[in-house]
Amino acid sequence: MSNSAVPPAELLELAVAAAEAAATLVRDRRPGQLQVDRKSTATDNVTDMDVASEALIRSVIAAARPDDGFIGEESAGEPSRAAGTDGVTWIVDPIDGTTNYLYDLPGYNISIAAEMAGTVVAAAVADPAHDRIYSARLGGGAFCNGLPLDATTTVTPDALTLERALIATGFAYSPTVRAAQGRVVAELLPRIRDIRRFGAAALDLCHVSAGRVDGYFEVGLAPWDVAAGALIAREAGARVEAIPGGPPLPRSVLAAKPVIFDALAELLHDLGAGATMGPSEDDA
Ligand code: IPD
Ligand code: CA
Repeated sequence: MSNSAVPPAELLELAVAAAEAAATLVRDRRPGQLQVDRKSTATDNVTDMDVASEALIRSVIAAARPDDGFIGEESAGEPSRAAGTDGVTWIVDPIDGTTNYLYDLPGYNISIAAEMAGTVVAAAVADPAHDRIYSARLGGGAFCNGLPLDATTTVTPDALTLERALIATGFAYSPTVRAAQGRVVAELLPRIRDIRRFGAAALDLCHVSAGRVDGYFEVGLAPWDVAAGALIAREAGARVEAIPGGPPLPRSVLAAKPVIFDALAELLHDLGAGATMGPSEDDA
């Protein structure tokens, strides 16, 4: 099937089906003792359920669309797996928030995006602990369990300013990058309402989409952390860009309500938030 002939609605339906299947697997079939391996650092882990989830998602997608490309976090080191032949590529994090999952905390999720010609056109993020599925199609709005999302919603009637903004962030696995990120947060804290660190980038972006936080930023992310959540956040009315002075999307991301975006971007730029990851950590 040629690229232009693939309706994004069809890709969205498949993204949601695969995310639901993986959500059921990782929540209901969680073993008493997870098998845990180390990745980039001692605290960057992969469990047997990350691998099982990716295998399930891959098989669900391949059964419906065998010619599509596939980039999954747990098979990203296998380049032959990325290429497809029909212009559609799936970008998948089988468990985003693996540390939450490891500790049996809510906040882990399954993140699935379908990309055509370099643009994400359909996205699903499943939050199994809350029975929520976030979804979006390019130009079609964003939804949670079928209800429209509006990132511009504010929690108080007052005009939102940076001083009143609740901002989520995340930290890289590299200890040196984390130290620099901690210094940025120390400078940021007195200038905003508060900080949240939920532990899963895709859901951080969904929290922005739902207005549960006013903004989110992070440096050191991978395509599968950002692809689905960024479309959902944009379709919900948030602005999503790279952090000024930081690496391009998806390596750095700033998502926020439009009303505070510029002020937050300027502050993060002044605090050097985008520069917390040096060139040596680029491939960590
Ligand atoms: C991580 C989570 C975390 C973020 C890290 C990501 P993973 O993904 O999204 O919140 O701070 O940068 O790598 O490793 O749990 O899939
Ligand atoms: Ca992951």
